[in-house]
Amino acid sequence: MIVLGIETSCDECAVAVVRDGREILSNTIATQINEHEEFHGVVPELASRLHTELIYPVTAASVKKAGVTLQDIDAVSVTNRPGLSGSLLVGVNFAKGLAAALDRPFIGIDHIKAHLYAPHLESDIPYPYLGLLVSGGHTIICKVTEFDQVEVLGTTIDDAVGEAFDKVAKYYHFGYPGGAVIDKLAKSGDPKAFNFPSPRLKEMYRPYDVSYSGLKTAVINQLDKFWDKRYEKNSRNIAAAFQNRAVSILIKSVEKALIDTGLERIAVGGGVAANTLLRQALRELGAAKGAEVYVPSMELCTDNGAMIAGLGYQYLKRGEHSDYSLSVSARVSAFKSLTWTKVRKSQ
Ligand code: KG4
Ligand code: ZN
Repeated sequence: MIVLGIETSCDECAVAVVRDGREILSNTIATQINEHEEFHGVVPELASRLHTELIYPVTAASVKKAGVTLQDIDAVSVTNRPGLSGSLLVGVNFAKGLAAALDRPFIGIDHIKAHLYAPHLESDIPYPYLGLLVSGGHTIICKVTEFDQVEVLGTTIDDAVGEAFDKVAKYYHFGYPGGAVIDKLAKSGDPKAFNFPSPRLKEMYRPYDVSYSGLKTAVINQLDKFWDKRYEKNSRNIAAAFQNRAVSILIKSVEKALIDTGLERIAVGGGVAANTLLRQALRELGAAKGAEVYVPSMELCTDNGAMIAGLGYQYLKRGEHSDYSLSVSARVSAFKSLTWTKVRKSQ
C-alpha cells in the first residue's frame, strides 16, 4: 500500500510517499526557516499563508521524486493535531480535497504519535518500549505499547526542551532555529565553563517530570557578562554548558524511567533527537543498562511527511480511516497517564 503523508503543523511544509509503512519513496520538505528568521520564531499567520503556496508544488515534487503517479497513491495521511491551527487547516483541507479527487481514504494523524513512529521507519522495534519525544513544543517520557498506545510517565512542567534551546539562542542572537545552532557552537565549547542548575521538582510532580524554565532563565541571566571581546569564545561555552545541562536533565529522567519500568528498549523522536550530545548520551545509557536504543536519522527527527505516511499506514492496515468531518486541534490528544504506583506494580 502506498500512502502519501502531509505535514503542515508548524513551519515545515512536508510531503512524503511511503510504501507499506516503511519504505520511503520520497520525503520532500520545504522549510520556511528563511521567512521566519527575522522574527526569531515562527509567525503563525505567515506560516499558514506559506503553506497555502507550498502545499501543491511540494506534493507534486514528492510524487514525482517517488517515481509514482497520483493514481498509484492508495491513501492520504495528514497531521491534524497538535500544532498551529491555521497551518494544520491548510494540510487537512488539501488532504481531504486530494482524497476526494482520487476517491481514496484519508486519515488524520497525531503529530506526537508520528514522531514516536519515526524510528519504526528504519528499524523493527518490538513493543513495549520507553518512548522519548523531544521537540519544540513537547517533552514526553512514555511507555509505548502499540503504535497508537502511549502511556505518559512524565512531561515537562513548563517549557519544552526544544523551546529552551530556541529561547537561549534567541536571547544570545546565536541564530535561528536555535537547536541546531547551539548544537554546532557547543562542539567547540567547554561544557564545564558554567555550572547551570538542575531543577529540583516538588513532591507534587511525577518522578519522571522535567523542567526547563529554571535552566533557561539561569542561562539568559548570564547574558550581560558577554558583550565584550571574549564574546565568541563565551558563546561557545554558554552553548556547551547549556546543552550539557539540558541533556543531563532528560537523561536522568529517562534512566529512572528505564530502571523503574524494567523496559528493555528506548526509542526517541522529535527535533531535539537530532542533537549530537543527546544521541550520544542515549546510546551510552543504553550500553550501560543493556537496553537497545533506537535513534532516527537526522531528517526523520525534525518534522517530515514520512512519519505521517508511516503511521497512517498502520491505522489503514487496521481498517481505520477518518471521515470528512475531521477537524484540526491545536492541543495534544489526551494520552493515558501511567501513575507512579502503576509503574511499580507493572514491574
Ligand atoms: O519536531 P520539530 O521539528 O518540530 C516540533 O514538533 O516542535 O522540532 C523542532 C525543535 C526546535 O525547538 C529546534 O530548535 C529543535 O527541535 N532542534 C534541535 C536540534 N535540531 C532541531 N535541538 C537541539 N539540537 C539539535 N541539533
Ligand atoms: Zn514536530
